Amino acid sequence: MILLDGKATAQSIRTELKAEVAELAAKHGRAPGLAVILVGDDPASQVYVRNKERACTEVGVLSVPHRLPAETTQSALEALIAELNADARVDGILLQLPVPKGLDSRRCLELIRPDKDVDGFHPQNMGRLAQGLLGLQPCTPAGVIELLKRYNLPTQGKTAVVVGRSNIVGRPLSIMLSQPGRFGDATVTLCHSRTPDLEEQCLRADFVFSAIGKPKFVTCDMVKEGAVVVDVGINRVDDCLVGDCDFEILCAKASAMTPVPGGIGPMTIAMLMKNTVQAYKEHVGAQA
Ligand code: GUN
Repeated sequence: MILLDGKATAQSIRTELKAEVAELAAKHGRAPGLAVILVGDDPASQVYVRNKERACTEVGVLSVPHRLPAETTQSALEALIAELNADARVDGILLQLPVPKGLDSRRCLELIRPDKDVDGFHPQNMGRLAQGLLGLQPCTPAGVIELLKRYNLPTQGKTAVVVGRSNIVGRPLSIMLSQPGRFGDATVTLCHSRTPDLEEQCLRADFVFSAIGKPKFVTCDMVKEGAVVVDVGINRVDDCLVGDCDFEILCAKASAMTPVPGGIGPMTIAMLMKNTVQAYKEHVGAQA
């Protein structure tokens, strides 16, 4: 079994980006900038945001943090987004989700300028993704595809099952896997809570991608011998992070598998850095 080491792969990507950023910043007279907005005090979000800020420091991206109280009003949040949209130091804007009750995250995401939307959540970027056009792509599914590329596990001509249809992971991942290319061109089935024969669907798949948020959801009898299993779930159980897959049992059956933690989580942050550099290059007019 090949362990798909997202932690080490993400480190390589950050090292590559660091060199590229140093060169570009010297040439264009400023570093890329990423604004991260965190509203409220959700403990998991605080950890994510801290990790994002740490990655910025390592890669040489200017981090522009905005930590707002849970009582922040919709209009105050919208005013901040407008300010960051107009700020020339800021190439990327990320609103950490979920936002506290009473705030309309959908409306906020639509107000982020599409060329600064480093999460790839704006309808314009999602639409471009669906049509196979260039644009900023959601970081988690992009991290999944990048990990497959780096381990040379092409999906072309294979069957792929994605479990979970969220806008952040499952749906965009299913779109990416169906696009033309060696790391696309899969026959994709998108499964969800209303899929009646989920186990049979998974059992037929060459690639299983789970993004549902339920510990030990994907079990031994759902995965065929030699399948590639990518676990995108992050669940907290007794203060430990676990994925959606029963790793101990599945690793005997899968030909390659991601661990949790140390799999897709760090890849997501590496892709956020990559998107920030991509947005910056567009803003300074550098060759992509
Ligand atoms: N919360 C959980 N995952 C994500 C993500 O990828 N982006 C943002 N902004 N918030 C999240």
